Amino acid sequence: MSRQLEREDLRRRGAATRAVHAGERIPLPIERSTTTPIFPTTTFLHPDLESLDAVFGGEQAGYNYSRHGNPTIRALEVAMAALEETDDAIAFGSGMAALHAAILACVTAGSKIVASRELFGATYTLLQAIFDSLEVESIFVDQLDLEEMESAIASVRPRAVLVETISNPLLNVAHLPLIAEWSHAVGATVICDNTFATPVLVNPSKFGIDLVMHSTTKYIGGHGDVLGGVICGDTDRIEDLIRVSRLAGGVIGPFEAWLTLRGVKTMPLRVRQQSESASLVAAWLAQHPAIDCVFYPGYSCSTEAAAVFNDDRRGGMVSFEIANAGRDEVFRFLDALEVFLPGTSLGDVYSLAVSPPMSTHRALDEDAQVAIGINPGLIRLSIGIEDVEDLIADLDQALRRIYRTG
Ligand SMILES: Cc1ncc(COP(=O)(O)O)c(C=O)c1O
Repeated sequence: MSRQLEREDLRRRGAATRAVHAGERIPLPIERSTTTPIFPTTTFLHPDLESLDAVFGGEQAGYNYSRHGNPTIRALEVAMAALEETDDAIAFGSGMAALHAAILACVTAGSKIVASRELFGATYTLLQAIFDSLEVESIFVDQLDLEEMESAIASVRPRAVLVETISNPLLNVAHLPLIAEWSHAVGATVICDNTFATPVLVNPSKFGIDLVMHSTTKYIGGHGDVLGGVICGDTDRIEDLIRVSRLAGGVIGPFEAWLTLRGVKTMPLRVRQQSESASLVAAWLAQHPAIDCVFYPGYSCSTEAAAVFNDDRRGGMVSFEIANAGRDEVFRFLDALEVFLPGTSLGDVYSLAVSPPMSTHRALDEDAQVAIGINPGLIRLSIGIEDVEDLIADLDQALRRIYRTG
């Protein structure tokens, strides 16, 4: 029908019909564009109804409706699977949508989850508020206390185990090989949030992790302009997730997928620069008299399971505690920053600074925050790609302003 309209004389049709159909579905060039085109379409037309029917029935690969698949989104999934060295990947509209789908694919009412106590705040609340109401109970453990982790997995016999490669905001590194081994011994699926580490630093699938998750909103997109999430894993598990995604519908849009794919290309370069600058910032903070403690993967006050890293890079996140600081001093410090932006996200080209008690962990009261090591003077930095000298000078002037040191 649509092809006939293209070929017939559109001039016979009314203005409204011409406005709707003229110029659409013209033949594509035989020359291929070097970059992936954006396919901003909900619906795909097939050469004939047999083909449409076969795609609907799953007998033939193809596209019919963008909640079920879209070539731009597929390109992002292929790129992420290649980066994480997994069979396949599936993209979502946000990191939280990806986590929700991954957990949902693993559990049924009555299932249990063993999860790290140090999870990103919204992930913690997702388990406690949403999954708990679906009769899926979560047991939170200290992912650094390997004895506690092992005995919880063995006694609870969970359906899923949920950890973060590098925890937020204390930047502790999970012992992925042991967690995978213990989980598989009881038939649990291990989901690992690899957002802070990025595929450049750590590939969790190499250590037996079943589902590797990213909030692509962060380092993968990298420019602070697009939300997204992805789960990477083997073919069977991604098939399960495709079923969830088609029905729960948390898909990413083609334009957002394209922007994210654009970010992917420079992600390794950015992460290398961010890691180099972050290690210099961490070293500078560690010798500053107004700083109590610096958290950086590989530093003494954070424990690391160094074997998971691909090389000696440790990423762009640095946390630290300002000595004797409460809410007022933290606010004055954040206000005084000129290059760092006081924003809650991370992994962007811009450097960002945030107070975890005020942002990511505000759902917990102060006692609960302190119990998991989040003290009132804690600041989390996401190092961008600016000149590192400017970043250090900015931290220096802001610290001088609140304490008038030096
Ligand atoms: C470690 C981690 N996981 C998951 C998320 C959720 O991602 P999104 O905001 O894309 O839903 C975030 C967001 O800050 C995060 O930092």
